[in-house]
Amino acid sequence: METGLKGKRALVLGASKGLGFGIAQGLAEEGARVSLASRTMGGSKAAADKIGKDVLAFICDTGKVDQVDALVKDVTGALGGVDILVLNSGGPPPGKAQGVSSDQWRQSFEAMFVNLVRIADQLLPGMIERKFGRIISVISSGVIQPIPNLAISNAIRPALVGWGKTLASEVASSGVTVNAIAPGRIATDRLKQLDAANAERTGRSVEDVAKAARAGIPAGRYGEIEEFAAAAVFLASEKASFMTGSILRVDGGQISSTT
Ligand SMILES: NC(=O)c1ccc[n+]([C@@H]2O[C@H](COP(=O)([O-])OP(=O)(O)OC[C@H]3O[C@@H](n4cnc5c(N)ncnc54)[C@H](OP(=O)(O)O)[C@@H]3O)[C@@H](O)[C@H]2O)c1
Repeated sequence: METGLKGKRALVLGASKGLGFGIAQGLAEEGARVSLASRTMGGSKAAADKIGKDVLAFICDTGKVDQVDALVKDVTGALGGVDILVLNSGGPPPGKAQGVSSDQWRQSFEAMFVNLVRIADQLLPGMIERKFGRIISVISSGVIQPIPNLAISNAIRPALVGWGKTLASEVASSGVTVNAIAPGRIATDRLKQLDAANAERTGRSVEDVAKAARAGIPAGRYGEIEEFAAAAVFLASEKASFMTGSILRVDGGQISSTT
């Protein structure tokens, strides 16, 4: 498939490892000019070097508004604009819905919603002017089927979906698409941490927790980062031009609902 991504300028957040890294790598393999960010320059640089010599590394903690604004300025300065924006960040701490402090809610909402939208808002005018843009949010299967003990994720990620769906209609006639990808369980460090936390909480071994989780996935296994990234590469491509306002599931059949 000809993706039309050669020369397109991409910015991927939360990309020193895991899903963000996989997406950055997938876009670079298709010839996009990729810039990536994470909370440390060392992490970003190592990831960029691993992908290829033309990949640009930046620092950006999505919880810090000054870093968010500096990122937009620096990436725009380096690339002249951004055609593909991947909104991704670290997952919030696991925990119940009860007893989350107001400070934790605010902090998570800033990092997982407010500042991501802030980046998109600054890059959108250029996309609209050029009549091409792709905004892709990495969300979670929890927006469709809330995941026990992940209350902050279950509560905040739907905001990104509601925003994206509304924005998709506003910019559809300008060649800008806005979509989200919902990972089920993809084998990353985050998943290892969640399995370990579940094991600790329930008094089981990590292997037992992982075995039970895999048993709940029709595919019988966790997904690979490359399998997730392939969906993002498609959404970023010119071929996905009539797909907007959607949530694409990459979950091995795990989410048991039709809507
Ligand atoms: N893997 C799954 O199965 C799965 C399922 C559902 C949802 N998700 C969600 O998808 C997102 C990515 O998950 P993942 O599995 O790739 O996680 P991961 O392996 O832990 O990687 C997270 C990435 O985000 C960066 N990061 C963490 N906190 C950040 C922050 N505040 N600002 C900017 N970058 C930050 C990390 O780099 P630094 O630490 O160097 O900053 C790293 O590059 C998370 O929000 C996660 O909750 C994942």
